Amino acid sequence: MISKRSWPLFVVIALVLMRVEGAEARSPYKMEGSTYTSSKVCAACHGQIYDRWKSSRHALSAENPIFKAAYLEAYKESAGGAKYLCLRCHAPTTIVTRDYELRKEITKEGVTCDFCHTVRKVDLNNSGNPFKIEPGLMKRSTLRRASSPAHQTEYSELHDSSLLCAACHEYRTPDGLPITSTYSEWKNSPYPAEGKQCQYCHFPPLEGNVVLPIIKEAKGKFINEHRLAHSTSDLKKAVKVEIAEVKRIRDRLRVLVKVTNAGSGHMVPTGLPSRKLVLQVDVKTQKNQKKRISEIRESRIYQKVLVSEDGKNLIRDSEIMLKRGRVTIAQDNRLAPRETRNEEFTFFVPSDLDLVVSAQIDYLYRPLVLGETEMRVEMARDEKLSPAF
Ligand code: HEC
Ligand code: HEC
Ligand code: HEC
Ligand code: HEC
Ligand code: HEC
Repeated sequence: MISKRSWPLFVVIALVLMRVEGAEARSPYKMEGSTYTSSKVCAACHGQIYDRWKSSRHALSAENPIFKAAYLEAYKESAGGAKYLCLRCHAPTTIVTRDYELRKEITKEGVTCDFCHTVRKVDLNNSGNPFKIEPGLMKRSTLRRASSPAHQTEYSELHDSSLLCAACHEYRTPDGLPITSTYSEWKNSPYPAEGKQCQYCHFPPLEGNVVLPIIKEAKGKFINEHRLAHSTSDLKKAVKVEIAEVKRIRDRLRVLVKVTNAGSGHMVPTGLPSRKLVLQVDVKTQKNQKKRISEIRESRIYQKVLVSEDGKNLIRDSEIMLKRGRVTIAQDNRLAPRETRNEEFTFFVPSDLDLVVSAQIDYLYRPLVLGETEMRVEMARDEKLSPAF
């Protein structure tokens, strides 16, 4: 460790070193000037950001078992060819290192700090390789007038923009079929006009220190969130469900349910088409009644369905990403940002019973890893009483 008194001198020397050696420079912090540096080096100073990133999907994108299982399938099916495609987004440092066999530690870090913070430009017209990347000592982000003893810094508008995310969160097949379209779903929503980029919702400010206080006393006391995950709290903010009307005419019970994508900046669900929402409406007998009916249930599913030439539904993530030939979108009834969908249900029930009607919406994701696992999250719920007459 360097004592506090010698610190300013040290900073000057470090900066001079960087200047002199230019792009091939080395920082005193084991940072190479011409390739990627491990997140563990960044952690020494940006510990709080590191801790949050470490448990994000980005940190796990090359190593998590769900990806690995799908990657192995894709790798086999394509005789290895899939590596260029999959790793471009799941282990993007390979674009520079060409470590397609996943041998280097940095590759296993997936979407790592140094990848995002050395991107200079994104050009979506260049769909095979939209990133302009410059690995090196210059780290870019949204702090104005930052300065660091370990690396150079630069304010970057791109890091405040959805374009940075678009390079990975949008994928079209070579024939132009949108497989994932989170970015364009957002672009066609009301959010861009309100100035709400992806970061507005996914990198919100949190109390914290950008750097260890002994390295530098920060001006503000906040960091931007870096833990991007399948989050239950995000899912609960996304969708509202309301039983707008319950009407009974003789033996008929009519239920009107309103489902709204209230908080998601893109379709719900978004991303890979293996995710779906399930709206479930249940009718039960109110307690304390002599007569009962057995519970009645109806559901609606919101999803994007891809179908191959031979009429088969594509459900495995690897085939969704790889299937060529005539793949079509057979259905896409997902909920657009701020859209409200009115759903009507009719049930046949005895008129002399007090009934309880409930509506619930669940997020369902069933990745295929060593058999099936299922993730189901209750997003919203409403309940109404329908008395006998
Ligand atoms: C020796 C400590 C140290 C290490 C190691 C370090 N940083 Fe920094 N970093 C800083 C300091 C200090 C700042 C400036 C903070 C300020 O001015 O408020 C900074 C600022 C930044 C910024 C903001 C740039 C801007 O202008 O918006 C980014 C991005 C960044 N670092 C990324 C990284 C990455 C990626 C790594 C690892 C490859 C890393 N840092 C390693 C100390 C460090
Ligand atoms: C997916 C890309 C991505 C990854 C991976 C990533 N960052 Fe960031 N980082 C961002 C973006 C975007 C911002 C700016 C957010 C904003 O201003 O809304 C940011 C902001 C920062 C800042 C400026 C201070 C702040 O909190 O705004 C630092 C420093 C930083 N990141 C360091 C790191 C470190 C260290 C890691 C790894 C442990 C890391 N980042 C991983 C995209 C990323
Ligand atoms: C280099 C490619 C890349 C960039 C750039 C990138 N992401 Fe990601 N992102 C991924 C990958 C790959 C995953 C999935 C990782 C996994 O689950 O295996 C992911 C996962 C996520 C998740 C969690 C998704 C889930 O299924 O739970 C969110 C949210 C997210 N990213 C938002 C963003 C935002 C916002 C930005 C822009 C600031 C961004 N990403 C930039 C590649 C990227
Ligand atoms: C208005 C807030 C908001 C904005 C803007 C926004 N998102 Fe989201 N995002 C959410 C919420 C809420 C969820 C959780 C519900 C869902 O899955 O849609 C989510 C979920 C996600 C997921 C995970 C999907 C899953 O099924 O696990 C990804 C990936 C993602 N967002 C990426 C992005 C990207 C990329 C952008 C910008 C192009 C963006 N988001 C813009 C609010 C937002
Ligand atoms: C254009 C960038 C991109 C490419 C290319 C890509 N992916 Fe992904 N992948 C993502 C993003 C972003 C996510 C997370 C959010 C979502 O669903 O969109 C993801 C999620 C996944 C998931 C779900 C992971 C989880 O934790 O739930 C699997 C599995 C997957 N990808 C497999 C693959 C395979 C296999 C390939 C190659 C055939 C591939 N991906 C190519 C960007 C990409």
